[in-house]
Amino acid sequence: MEAYIVEWLNLLGRWLHMITGIAWIGASFYFVWLDNHLETPKSQADQDKGVGGELWAVHGGGFYHAQKYKVSPAQLPENLHWFKWEAYTTWLSGMFMLILMYWYGAEIYTIDPNVMALTKPVAIMIGVGVLVLGWVVYDLLCKSSLGKDDNILAAVLLVFVTVVAFGLTQVFSGRGAYIHYGAMLGTIMVANVAMVIMPGQRAMVANAEKGLPPDPAPGLKAKQRSVHNTYFTLPVLFVMTSNHYAGTYGSAWNWLVLVLISLAGALIRVYFVQRHFGRNKPMIVVVALVFLAISAAILAPKPVETSAVVDDVTAFAIVEQRCASCHAAAPTQPGFSAAPKGVLLDSIEAMKSQAVAVHQQTVVSRAMPIGNLTQITEEERAQLAAWFQSLEK
Ligand code: HEC
Repeated sequence: MEAYIVEWLNLLGRWLHMITGIAWIGASFYFVWLDNHLETPKSQADQDKGVGGELWAVHGGGFYHAQKYKVSPAQLPENLHWFKWEAYTTWLSGMFMLILMYWYGAEIYTIDPNVMALTKPVAIMIGVGVLVLGWVVYDLLCKSSLGKDDNILAAVLLVFVTVVAFGLTQVFSGRGAYIHYGAMLGTIMVANVAMVIMPGQRAMVANAEKGLPPDPAPGLKAKQRSVHNTYFTLPVLFVMTSNHYAGTYGSAWNWLVLVLISLAGALIRVYFVQRHFGRNKPMIVVVALVFLAISAAILAPKPVETSAVVDDVTAFAIVEQRCASCHAAAPTQPGFSAAPKGVLLDSIEAMKSQAVAVHQQTVVSRAMPIGNLTQITEEERAQLAAWFQSLEK
């Protein structure tokens, strides 16, 4: 029953996380696009009012005319929309999923005894520590003298995320390492909203209400953080879908692949931001594709040379012992209420019908048995590899 309830919490949490994530990133991409497309207002009256940029758009059967003030309008409107709960609820629902799956279910998803035999409390402490320290270090870097030059800061941040990616893969399962890396970036993005962007906007509004001369400083600080957020977005979205791609997080070079794909994502976003300004720089996309191609080369499956012939009965003895406790109609493994992903491995026929997936998950990506909870041996993995080759002969 408990596993069944967790399954529903998982479903609802994930659904909410996707909905709020779309609302947040949708609005955030829209505003980046809007800001970068603004033109000097045509009307002198608008310019005199302090409007610095304007944009016309047609959407959903109507014409829209957006105007951006250089700092603030002489009089604040009655209704001012803020856009912050999209970010906060994305983070809250993401934390809910992280706690439910990767901390509460740490033995399954986060701990891999072959990487490091962590206890559950230690794994959770590392997880919390990465999120908190990730933000503290990032924030200090932005505020330090390094933060004055965008290029230097970008290089330092790249080194920082590389260290985190490498460190996480030395303590957690590949899957656990990836999700904590993504959660750290996501936390930085939301903390940017809560701790820098929102306070900056509150200060601007307070100034405008008191009729004080506008101070552009908070707006500029907020701008730096919102630019970072836009470049973090694609890497974070990759990580959030990476649990479907055991080949990435399961590889021996998983940390390097994570950094390369993050770089590719950030560069693709850079390309689009440049395009907003009318600057078409396809070389940026080419470099991003090179990073993806390097990742693909690193992950390419290496053929296993073996002449051993392993028959179905021998292979099934392994699968029955190492896989069927979860992959059965009624799993005996605690925490599982149904065969994960509907993959049944409880008979020779079932195993053979899933041969490609069994090989992929056990030999190529080594994602299964998850967390190696059933302690498959290297010898058994090699036997499954030989069985798969025997099938192909
Ligand atoms: C402790 C439970 C457990 C054991 C033991 C286990 N698995 Fe899994 N398996 C899972 C879970 C959980 C998932 C779903 C992972 C996810 O959410 O992406 C899964 C998914 C799969 C998938 C589908 C992968 C996909 O992304 O479509 C295959 C194939 C698979 N397992 C094969 C195996 C094989 C082969 C073994 C034995 C060598 C095995 N599993 C042992 C829990 C287990």
